[in-house]
Amino acid sequence: TPFPVIAPSMLKCDFGNLHREVELLEAAEASVLHWDVMDGHFVPNLSYGALLIERVRPLTKMFFDAHLMVSNPEEYIDEYIKAGCDSITVHIEAVPDPQDILDHMNKSGVVPGLAISPKTPVEMIEPYLESCGLILVMSVEPGFGGQSFMESSLPKIKQLKTMIANSTILSVDGGIGMETIAEAAAAGANYFVVGSALFSQADYSIAVNELVEKARS
Ligand code: DX5
Ligand code: ZN
Repeated sequence: TPFPVIAPSMLKCDFGNLHREVELLEAAEASVLHWDVMDGHFVPNLSYGALLIERVRPLTKMFFDAHLMVSNPEEYIDEYIKAGCDSITVHIEAVPDPQDILDHMNKSGVVPGLAISPKTPVEMIEPYLESCGLILVMSVEPGFGGQSFMESSLPKIKQLKTMIANSTILSVDGGIGMETIAEAAAAGANYFVVGSALFSQADYSIAVNELVEKARS
């Protein structure tokens, strides 16, 4: 997937017409679907599980990036691997020692990802960076779409950029839109999760192109 990548967050999408949404996103040249899995325990919201991802998997070749905002993800990780996720991101706040789950993902041919929430310092994931193919910096408190971008994520992105290999995806997630994507890109992010700023637009193609332009500016 050529950078900058726009990864639509499947939370504010039209679930009543999910197949159509996926077709529109694919036509808009979004190369990734970001699945926001929420368990109502790690975050105060409940979204969906592996079953939904498994049902959508045969409909598209897009890269499936599962963001597990769940407690004890090690108990569920195989469901997401079997559902056909290409990358799976777990929160360091849910797995204090993620080495085993990261290795398991790697061995299963899935890109291992680690996410840090706004209050979590970069130092918490430093020991595991080498085992990750994707690092996700939350720029909102996990749990809901439509929140405002937190500027405090920018120094964390900058710091992480100096600590990871060029091949590691540096993803930013939350409040990304026309007003915020440029500063997130300037800080070093190359992979942008976008929810409300995309699904609020009538034409996803135009929205994706405008966001890519801004990320490149
Ligand atoms: C929040 C999710 C984000 C969110 C993005 O917990 O991880 O992916 O849905 O939505 P926006 O872009 O509207 O902040
Ligand atoms: Zn997310």
